[in-house]
Amino acid sequence: MSRNFYKPGRSRRPTPNRPAFLKPARETFEVRIEKMVQGGEGMARLPDGRVCFVAGALPGELCKVALTFAKKDFTRGRAVEILEPSPDRVEPRCPLYGKCGGCSLQHLDSEKQAEYLARVERENFRRIARIDLPEDFKVHTGPAWGYRNRARVVVTCDRAGEKDIVRFGFRMPESNRIALFKECPVLSPALNCFLQGKAREIFAGKFRRGSETDVNLFDNGAGDVRFYCGTDRHDARGSSAPGIQSSDPSCVVPVAGKNVHAGAEVFFQSNLSLLPSLVQAVRDAVDEGLAIGEASDSWLIDLFSGVGFFAAMLEDKFKRVTTVERDDNCLRYAKINLSEKCESVSAPAEDWLQENVVDTPATLIVDPPRTGLPPSCTAALAASSVNRLIYVSCDPVTLARDTAVLAQSGFKIRRAEAFAFYPQTPHLEMMLVLAR
Ligand SMILES: C[S@@+](CC[C@H](N)C(=O)[O-])C[C@H]1O[C@@H](n2cnc3c(N)ncnc32)[C@H](O)[C@@H]1O
Repeated sequence: MSRNFYKPGRSRRPTPNRPAFLKPARETFEVRIEKMVQGGEGMARLPDGRVCFVAGALPGELCKVALTFAKKDFTRGRAVEILEPSPDRVEPRCPLYGKCGGCSLQHLDSEKQAEYLARVERENFRRIARIDLPEDFKVHTGPAWGYRNRARVVVTCDRAGEKDIVRFGFRMPESNRIALFKECPVLSPALNCFLQGKAREIFAGKFRRGSETDVNLFDNGAGDVRFYCGTDRHDARGSSAPGIQSSDPSCVVPVAGKNVHAGAEVFFQSNLSLLPSLVQAVRDAVDEGLAIGEASDSWLIDLFSGVGFFAAMLEDKFKRVTTVERDDNCLRYAKINLSEKCESVSAPAEDWLQENVVDTPATLIVDPPRTGLPPSCTAALAASSVNRLIYVSCDPVTLARDTAVLAQSGFKIRRAEAFAFYPQTPHLEMMLVLAR
């Protein structure tokens, strides 16, 4: 086994499947990549007409593809040889490219990634929602490397003689293996520095030989790194490795001129360099709604509100503010982050929306997890008097799906902006303004 991989003695995971890229190649084909699809793979057709999603291939390229998965109607493969490379192809920078499960777009020039992902986003909307994104849909970009201020890593510990060897890694997809790294080029310099220095002291001697634990890391962007070892997000001080105490997970994050209280145990946006652009876009969207009379300043409702991040950035513009979040740990921070005129509710957003029929003018901002809006949430929105909605999303597929549902009750896209929060990966953050 390569030095870069760690196989725990006792896995907490079910029977491992080998990741697709490690499966023995069955057959190879020469294909021309037609386009990039959701997830960053290249799409091609095999000689028998079946679609093939090719990892590591770019539009226009002619490649030799080894199949890793085959069904009657579609196949998956990996590019084993690039016969005619795209002018946008570059050498991946990280030795764990194709292994750790993250940063699968490193073979594409960082300067071009936003353009390619915007094209994929447009296609998603056409295919799933049958809606065209606006022509002038802007993609905000930031640093291509060293941007990630939040991460979940695995800490492993082995004993060499009297010494503990502490190492860090990422869980590989569909596997119980861990891809070990010394330095991760997308993590912020403060997180890499913490892992190479202080973290080794903290974790040394705290494990049984051969054991491992997951740790959430959080860099506040101002020199403060916190970690959280709990597996249960609701137990702020819990630890899955006996002997390891989480640091105090809470810290203060300076964003767009405000100090936001957050912590390693709760959700927070993970690209602090670009976050001010998203805040500005959301503030502009609110101002526009108020200026054209499509929204009212009487009530802001922030659903899936986390630590009350968007409410904190917008509360100066509204008379009344309600945040709704189901994670009680987030709620503790929201109470600190928001002024007295704000009410922070602990509930599933969909239940709150159904029980509190919004029949007065209100501005809504929603920022759901990858799964998008629950159907009861879109139904309650359709039935409400809300006529302007700001939808922040980290998943283009569920965003397109929900936009299609909301379009049935008259919502149209007024504004769309994207934020390249996760360079080197196929993920794109979006903000849509929907109005009716
Ligand atoms: C993408 S995060 C957004 C948080 C916040 N808007 C921010 O920018 O920091 C989604 C949040 O929704 C919460 N959440 C997930 N499902 C929920 C639900 N059904 N009802 C309420 N909150 C939910 C999660 O705990 C998480 O804090």
